[in-house]
Amino acid sequence: MKVIIDIDTCIGCGSCVMCEPKVFKMIEEDGVDHAIVIAQPNIDMEANVEDALSNCPVSAISID
Ligand code: F3S
Repeated sequence: MKVIIDIDTCIGCGSCVMCEPKVFKMIEEDGVDHAIVIAQPNIDMEANVEDALSNCPVSAISID
């Protein structure tokens, strides 16, 4: 599983970080908050990443 965030689509809602903080992290760039992927998930994190994907309000998260 490889997780990708489209930072141009992300609106910084932060729910992905709540789902799996070992994979997603909020950062501020040019005054705009958005999430980044800080680590690819191991098998134990995959369910949380699936939750993050389905909960993102703008579908900014994808899995390759
Ligand atoms: Fe952004 Fe979606 Fe996470 S809007 S902060 S990628 S839940």
